[in-house]
Amino acid sequence: MRAKKTAKAKPVARAANHAFVSEVPDRIRRLINSSLEIDEVLNLSMHLMEKTVGATASSILIYDAETNQLKFYLATGDKKDILKVIRMPADQGVAGRSFQTKRTLLIPEAAKSPFFYNKVDEKSKFVTKNLIATPIEVKGKCIGVLEVLNKARGTFTSDDARSLKAISREISIAIENARLYDEVKRAYMDSMLNMAKAEKYRDGDTGLHIERCGAYAFALGPALGFSPKDLESLKLSMMMHDIGKVAIPDAVLLKPAKLDPAEWEIMQRHTSLGGEILGRGPHMKLALEIATCHHEKWNGSGYPQKIAGNQIPLSARLAAIIDVFDALSSRRPYKDPFPPEQVVSMLQEGSGSHFDPELVQLFISRIAEMREIYNTTTA
Ligand SMILES: [Fe+2]
Repeated sequence: MRAKKTAKAKPVARAANHAFVSEVPDRIRRLINSSLEIDEVLNLSMHLMEKTVGATASSILIYDAETNQLKFYLATGDKKDILKVIRMPADQGVAGRSFQTKRTLLIPEAAKSPFFYNKVDEKSKFVTKNLIATPIEVKGKCIGVLEVLNKARGTFTSDDARSLKAISREISIAIENARLYDEVKRAYMDSMLNMAKAEKYRDGDTGLHIERCGAYAFALGPALGFSPKDLESLKLSMMMHDIGKVAIPDAVLLKPAKLDPAEWEIMQRHTSLGGEILGRGPHMKLALEIATCHHEKWNGSGYPQKIAGNQIPLSARLAAIIDVFDALSSRRPYKDPFPPEQVVSMLQEGSGSHFDPELVQLFISRIAEMREIYNTTTA
């Protein structure tokens, strides 16, 4: 249901004479240029925006092309958690109208507006009294809507609407920057993963070992405090743990017999070579620490740095267990898979010497799940 244009919504005039119009966007621009994560930038921007226009709540809705809906990406106020699961048709409500027309709408009395979509209020138990909605545009394309709701004193003004419009421009830059950053990060990670897979094929492996290593880490990550956002990165980083082997000569990597001391020294270099290949960009931190430290041992007898205990990054301590568990469970040209009970005993034997005891305990407490991952990701 789309309302006619006779409504009380007031498209906002062009003139800009509001004290905050340049000041607040400038502050948001500084936030964007800081090292904060995108959600932190947006949350801080929203609180700044609320303070600026005297709103009691605000939200950012993002368009989902698959469902043709607007979904609440971020919201403030006491109903923010409920709002996260609410979606609304992209052609309804004040937000929908703003999205479709790419115009800033000032609604002094929500209840009297023909655009008002009260189902969001019904579901969230929030009472919208007045609001402003303004489109978020990236390169001329509307990607969502920014809203402020319920002015603490009085009702929103045209100056408020102009401030919001200016803030929306900054927010759209933040969103676009984050999207581009994710794209670059993903492209970089993908190319690294392809190198890791190529190495595994060269090694005579089917590539499933690295798939499984990623899957174990993804399953265990939350118990180790990795946020949902970091889990994908942990998984990809775990899959690249042996990427340094691409730089190990075939004569050593593919030697069908035991390595002599000189060859073993060359083989051990795959850890530091992995670190060099991955580089030192901020988004490669996990991959770098895993590739470099996954052969370190809890008691300091590993390589390449012989660091011990908590000096070894948590991700690398996890990688050590995962790598050994999968190797022990798998067939190799020189050995059959060890029986599941023996694999558990061997991990327990390495607790406190090779492995972090707490992580061994966690891994074994989830052993059924780990075996399930092994069985479902094995050719
Ligand atoms: Fe390795």
